[in-house]
Amino acid sequence: MIYAQIMAGGIGKRMGNTLLPKQFLMLGNKPMIVHTVEKFVLNDEFDLILVSAPEAWIEYTNEIFAKYNVSDERIRVIAGGAERNDTLQNAILFIEKTNGLHEEDVIVAHDAVRPFITKRIIDENIAALQEYKAVDTVVPAYDTIVQGNGKEVVNIPVRDEMFQGQTPQSFNIKTFQESYAKLSEEQKKVLSDSCKIVLLAGEKVGMVNGDHSNIKVTTPYDLKIANAIIDTGH
Ligand code: CTP
Repeated sequence: MIYAQIMAGGIGKRMGNTLLPKQFLMLGNKPMIVHTVEKFVLNDEFDLILVSAPEAWIEYTNEIFAKYNVSDERIRVIAGGAERNDTLQNAILFIEKTNGLHEEDVIVAHDAVRPFITKRIIDENIAALQEYKAVDTVVPAYDTIVQGNGKEVVNIPVRDEMFQGQTPQSFNIKTFQESYAKLSEEQKKVLSDSCKIVLLAGEKVGMVNGDHSNIKVTTPYDLKIANAIIDTGH
């Protein structure tokens, strides 16, 4: 089975004081999460589309899907978790309980707050899973990446070898679970990047070209940019 997961389990602290978690804020004429979920609904490859919302916002999520006519029988709104890893784990648990876990099962996990995801990026994630057990979506770093400790520069890696990670991040579910099980409790707390978890377990991780327009809405400034993109007719 090919599962999609829309990760909407956060509360958006860096967005500041908003009435709703940022994934529910309006972008143009509909909530951000609706833009994102619609891109996945359009893709016939998915067997199930899991939308992970904070527990207290599950009912609200279902209500806005009804209001904005996001009706697809593959959608299930489920509870996220305290940390991003917990949100992914809860989705895997849901899959295990409802359908069981099979060798070939894969999941394409995407941030609800990246509403400009394209069909090409989704398709290339699914295709790359034929070759790799884990796939990361990346864009070339435009700025020089400087590694430092906050006070001094430690390293300036060659820019051509630097990429910025986006989502989707996609996995063979069993491989991900085996990799996660190898982590210590301490590592589970600090390792929030799912691809790094698989990489640490010694697996190869494939790269798919993302897009610089596949922005993550993190701050009020990003929200302004996202609205400007919508205004120009994305
Ligand atoms: N996310 C999630 N479950 C969590 C934390 C985050 O599903 N426990 C999701 C967010 O809803 C978001 C995506 O992961 O769609 C990217 O994370 P980020 O931008 O960091 O979102 P928040 O955690 O909500 O933001 P902040 O760190 O500012 O609180």
